[in-house]
Amino acid sequence: MKYGHFDDTAREYVINTPYTPLPWINYLGSEDFFSIISNTGGGYSFYRDAKLRRITRYRYNGVPNDAGGRCFYITDGGVTWSPAFLPSKTELDSYKCRHGLGYTVFESSKNGLSSELCAFIPVGENCEINRLVLTNNSGETKKISVVSAVEFCLWNAVDDASNFQRNFNTGELEAIDCEKGCIIFHKTEYRERRNHYAYFSVNRPITGYDTSREVFLGKFNGWDTPDAVKYGKSANKVSHGWAPIASHRVEIILKPGEKTSLVYVLGYCELPKEEKWEKPGIINKKPAFEQLNRVESDTLVDKALNNLKEYWSSLLSKFTTQSGDDKLDRMVNIWHQYQCMVTFNMSRSASYYESGMGRGMGFRDSCQDLLGFVHLVPGRARERILDITATQKDDGSCWHQYQPLTKQGNADVGIGFNDDPLWLPAAVHAYISETGDAGILHEPVPFDCKEGTEVSLFEHLRLCVDYTLKRLGPHGLPLIGRADWNDCLNLNCFSEEPGESFQTTANFESGVAESVFIAGMFVLYGRQYAEICEKYGCKDEAARIYAAADKMAEAVRTHGWDGEWFIRAYDAYGKKIGSKECKEGQIFIEPQGMCVMAGIGVEPGGLARKALDSVKERLTTEYGTCLLSPCYSEYHLELGEVSSYPPGYKENGGIFCHNNPWVSIAEVMTGNADEAFAVYTRICPAYREERSEIHRVEPYVYNQMIAGQEAPTFGEGKNSWLTGTAAWTFVNASQYLLGVQPTLEGLRIAPCLPNNFNEIKINRQYRDVNYDILIKRTGKYSLTVNGQKIDGDVIPIQTADCRVEVTI
Ligand code: BGC
Ligand code: NOJ
Repeated sequence: MKYGHFDDTAREYVINTPYTPLPWINYLGSEDFFSIISNTGGGYSFYRDAKLRRITRYRYNGVPNDAGGRCFYITDGGVTWSPAFLPSKTELDSYKCRHGLGYTVFESSKNGLSSELCAFIPVGENCEINRLVLTNNSGETKKISVVSAVEFCLWNAVDDASNFQRNFNTGELEAIDCEKGCIIFHKTEYRERRNHYAYFSVNRPITGYDTSREVFLGKFNGWDTPDAVKYGKSANKVSHGWAPIASHRVEIILKPGEKTSLVYVLGYCELPKEEKWEKPGIINKKPAFEQLNRVESDTLVDKALNNLKEYWSSLLSKFTTQSGDDKLDRMVNIWHQYQCMVTFNMSRSASYYESGMGRGMGFRDSCQDLLGFVHLVPGRARERILDITATQKDDGSCWHQYQPLTKQGNADVGIGFNDDPLWLPAAVHAYISETGDAGILHEPVPFDCKEGTEVSLFEHLRLCVDYTLKRLGPHGLPLIGRADWNDCLNLNCFSEEPGESFQTTANFESGVAESVFIAGMFVLYGRQYAEICEKYGCKDEAARIYAAADKMAEAVRTHGWDGEWFIRAYDAYGKKIGSKECKEGQIFIEPQGMCVMAGIGVEPGGLARKALDSVKERLTTEYGTCLLSPCYSEYHLELGEVSSYPPGYKENGGIFCHNNPWVSIAEVMTGNADEAFAVYTRICPAYREERSEIHRVEPYVYNQMIAGQEAPTFGEGKNSWLTGTAAWTFVNASQYLLGVQPTLEGLRIAPCLPNNFNEIKINRQYRDVNYDILIKRTGKYSLTVNGQKIDGDVIPIQTADCRVEVTI
């Protein structure tokens, strides 16, 4: 069942009912000011940091679900309704929510009045626009009242949700009514330590306003039935303390056929300390006026919306395909890349499942995310690499997380996730392959953000690789530490206390728990580092690491192979995990994907084929590839969080989407195009759209986890948007299935798609040159550039736009 459809021309997903199984959300914003918006208008805004600069309030896991957000109440002929359906919940005559790239439009109607509410954040501005256009389609003149409302958060979202003894006293506002409209300013804590305020305005004379939530809603009411709307009366008072809101009342008369538009702006302004005040106690409103002058009229809104569309067109023009398969095209050309950008902007901070208050930027998450957005914003990828690197310590260890505002490592979570350091060479290799900017290797980067400790990025990479080599266990495999990619495989943490962190309570330093997954990573990313060394001047170092990688691959073949698949790990007692010898958890997906991606056993008849056949047989379901099987039915002290989840959920045998593309890539590496594509499509949103009632999450973006075959809710998706799945599936689709892969030497073209793909066009902007690629199936591989035959499958770096023809 579907709840909408893709409009590929407009690059939108059009939702046709507010009754989606879950809120289906979108992101607004591209630089500093961001908002989340659901298909019923819920969500919130923040400036740069969803925890410390929260502008509007949102209650996660609230009742009813998804209350608050952008509230608009239209009262016409005694009936009150909302253009986004919520908050008023009045059934609409028609409803549509169009989620586009950086904007969302609600088109609805009731009793002959239609509304179009468009929400977006202009590129380069710190404000969200909500333009409401009302059209009277009836034969009679209508007298309409429109009431708006937003609820301010008292900036620090954690404090706002917990420290009530203080924050019921701190709320401060100002309101001004001018000829052009009304602006309500939120200035809590501005008097002392904040140099920023927020405001909410409308560009139209008002007949009333409210600033107190309590007065606006009235006793015992929710956002669906505020007293102010029910009784048609605003308080017109500036309130103090409690819960500050901003609400405007506008009265409109619309003749038959007549149309009018109102522009609401939710803005954020930061001021230099000395310019904060207009006079004592009165804030300096100049920056707000200036901002409004740039955005507030209809023409300016149109212009800003066009700018936004152009911004996205230009970003997305770097990789486009016409493959003959609409679903593949719409994912690759639009939604996949869009999600990669959002993930770049948000990391794991703010979604409907990440509260924006918890995790900082993950070291491994950010490095992997980069694989998906480096071609979109290489300059910002460079910056991100240097930020991440600066959190490394001089012994090569890496903080598992860092805070985006301070860029400091997060001491609460600490270090010792032993896969972390190896993701950095992966990111740097991807960055240089994309840009050719080897100069980055010589950038001075400090340790642990301490000035004066700078060494080159190159040296940091060496430390990353040596970090693994210095921590090998009894089988010559890397020690796992607190966990590896699988945060829940906590082999040195024997936790029996509820509430204790599975990851940070490392209380059993066994010195023997080893990870075959990290071994695979070392072979893959150690070699990528060696490739960089070889090309950019350190041949000895390259030879040292190639040799170490070969040795590691050998250790995997000897001690990491179970007969039909790769073993997952050795626990603190030296016992195998992910082996047929185990009662449960006999096979895990991660080492199968990673070891094959690393090239271990890919020779014909080698281990790789066997491992992938085992994945097919034991882990594959119609909804995707499960993380492990059979699921753990009991808690295992020696395994940690993985066994804490009920069978079939999350890391305990859920379909963890993030590593499904590894299996698809591995299938490509063994030349199995059909299964590679099948693995890709099983979890791909566009292909599962028809089953939206089962998956329940948005059909235009990836989510983290789909309940696995042993779960009672098999097929149900959770945790949409902010997941490493975005980057990895884009790598999978663009570099392996469509086969356009940046390398240090140039663009490699090696598509691997099922036989029904006969002719594929791809346009790729790579190192400032446009590659116009035509792929045809003939049964034999050949490659020409501007008519000239190329040996092998890598196109040497071009200096002018070129036409590439490939036969496969
Ligand atoms: C989740 C993991 C996640 C980790 C982050 C765990 O509870 O299962 O998926 O990576 O928390 O700390
Ligand atoms: C989500 C985390 O963000 C990621 O870093 C981790 O690899 C996966 N969960 C698997 O545990």
